[in-house]
Amino acid sequence: MTTLKNDRFLKALLGEPVDITPVWMMRQAGRYLPEYRATRAKAGNFLKLCKTPELATEVTIQPLERFDLDAAILFSDILTIPDAMGLGLYFSEGEGPRFERPIQNEADIKNLIVPAMDKDLGYVMDAVSMIHRELDGRVPLIGFSGSPWTLATYMVEGGSSKDFSKVKGMLYENPKAMHMLLDKVADCVIDYLNAQISNGAQAVMIFDTWGGALTTRDYKEFSLHYMEKIISRLTRENAGRKVPITIFSKGGCQWLEAQAQSGADCIGLDWTIDIGLARKRVGDKVALQGNMDPSVLYAAADRIREEVAFILDSFGKGNGHVFNLGHGIHQHVNPDNAKVLIDAVHELSKPYHT
Ligand code: CP3
Repeated sequence: MTTLKNDRFLKALLGEPVDITPVWMMRQAGRYLPEYRATRAKAGNFLKLCKTPELATEVTIQPLERFDLDAAILFSDILTIPDAMGLGLYFSEGEGPRFERPIQNEADIKNLIVPAMDKDLGYVMDAVSMIHRELDGRVPLIGFSGSPWTLATYMVEGGSSKDFSKVKGMLYENPKAMHMLLDKVADCVIDYLNAQISNGAQAVMIFDTWGGALTTRDYKEFSLHYMEKIISRLTRENAGRKVPITIFSKGGCQWLEAQAQSGADCIGLDWTIDIGLARKRVGDKVALQGNMDPSVLYAAADRIREEVAFILDSFGKGNGHVFNLGHGIHQHVNPDNAKVLIDAVHELSKPYHT
């Protein structure tokens, strides 16, 4: 068993004391890095990159070579699950993800494949174990999945959507079918995350990117409920350490109190809420991850440092803060600005941990 050389990320997720605030960035391995673009070109396309464990490992490590990050995140995508369930994922240039066979009716839901983690999603598990080995205890490795609701939006819409007309049509017209789909996807997410944990993921995060598109009542019934089901069935310990769970519903900060009751250890925040206010609302029940607007990284170093200082001050003294962006880093950001952010978090957070 390798011991972790830097475990402040895991400690902060569990509300334990740390020396400085840990930081990582959503989409830290991505197109804003020239070395990522080079490896992606070598792979041919994004999906081949995800499906080649050696190359997925390479791009996972790239941001750690440049920046003093406190965690690595598996390089993959949330849409690997619907792909393995038989929908046929592809990426068309400039259009984002698409499915060849989207879900159109109840029969399609009944016909979904139940993927075998070691076969259909074996390439993800191989990447997890290879990255874990390569990291050799440098920082913890985050595994992840989409939430059932967020995955269902892509599965029913057939790709990205602005108004969610098809998936919301199904939700309102045929809630029974919607629940059947969400339940099948949730079972798959449980197996998927548990397999990532057994292959070396030391923390997991559930991306509920489209939870905020729901009404309050529907969020609880169609999104949070399934995340709770997943949380209740995840392996909570690995190699003698607790495996913390983070849930992130983008646009969902009005439901913080409910999220804090979900069993998750940490709640991810987008940039629209003041993190100090969020902390008052959840108390010590959960840790908080966030929440700088990724667009701040378009500004000069002074402005980035000012924003970091503001967020650290708003959270205040004490435990339970993982610094992050409120959503993924944009592809046109200068990597030097990401370094300014990461160094500023470490430098400016010391006084909050004495
Ligand atoms: O954070 C990381 O560094 C880990 C890697 C990661 C990716 N996707 C790589 C990726 C993670 C955690 C994801 C999750 C993901 N994928 C989400 C949830 C988080 C979020 O961003 O809200 C969603 C909704 C997806 C689905 C998805 N994948 C979309 C909509 C797109 C297209 C986006 C675009 O900007 O074109 C992707 C592709 C994708 N996933 C890229 C990366 C680095 C860009 C692909 C490329 O190289 O062209």
